[in-house]
Amino acid sequence: MGKRKRLSVTSGLRIVKDYDRLSHLTANLVAAIIRDTPTAVVGLPTGRTPLGFYKRLGALRRRGLDTSRLTAVCLDEYLGVSPDDPISLFGWLRRVALEPLGIPAARTLRLPSDAADPQAACGRFNRLLDRHGGFDLVVLGLGWNGHVAFNEPGSPRSASTRIVALQPGTMERNLAYWRGRRSLPGYGMTVGLRSILRARRILLLVSGARKAQILAATMCGPITSAIPASQLRLGRLTVIADQAAAKLLARNS
Ligand code: PGA
Repeated sequence: MGKRKRLSVTSGLRIVKDYDRLSHLTANLVAAIIRDTPTAVVGLPTGRTPLGFYKRLGALRRRGLDTSRLTAVCLDEYLGVSPDDPISLFGWLRRVALEPLGIPAARTLRLPSDAADPQAACGRFNRLLDRHGGFDLVVLGLGWNGHVAFNEPGSPRSASTRIVALQPGTMERNLAYWRGRRSLPGYGMTVGLRSILRARRILLLVSGARKAQILAATMCGPITSAIPASQLRLGRLTVIADQAAAKLLARNS
């Protein structure tokens, strides 16, 4: 396969011009789901990719979209970190999305990564998620190595909420999100692919040329735990990619 060859892909794929359009389209799709199911259980991602989507969804809320009855789930967290720790991903999501969207604290499910016995807490969290009926919608970003949430390479599709070792490359990149920080915990807690794959809808957001190779592998290569995101093709997946990220894909649908 030549490096520049475009790979064909048939599953749910929406290619849009740029990041702005990606954010708009995602917000519109999510708003339609919320109008249809105002009490939806929604998994929300951290990272840079969803920032425009959160902003746009906030704008739709100001124009009347009711987000107050959703249940929101933060999909990943550093191990041993409380929500008020400056590096807490839940704390970040609260500032960037949950508060602007008016989702009350009582309607958020937080990964209990600071529990005294985190292993047992993972089991309790799985049962809690199941009691909520699982996800109506999971929105995800695509990690540099194909991870989704903190499901790093090697994560099987049967994996449930658990503690994972973070890859050095993930920690290096994530460090750039926290100005002034010199290190991050080497472990995280993540919602597993099992719960994500059962979602009624999965949206995978991918932006920028630096994601082109991993998106091509995700969509066109084998379905393998070596690239956890490739396993999303077994679920009700729609990929929303901008042209820069999709430059190695050719749609044949
Ligand atoms: P990004 O991160 O949106 O900042 O690229 C994605 C991820 O690592 O999950």
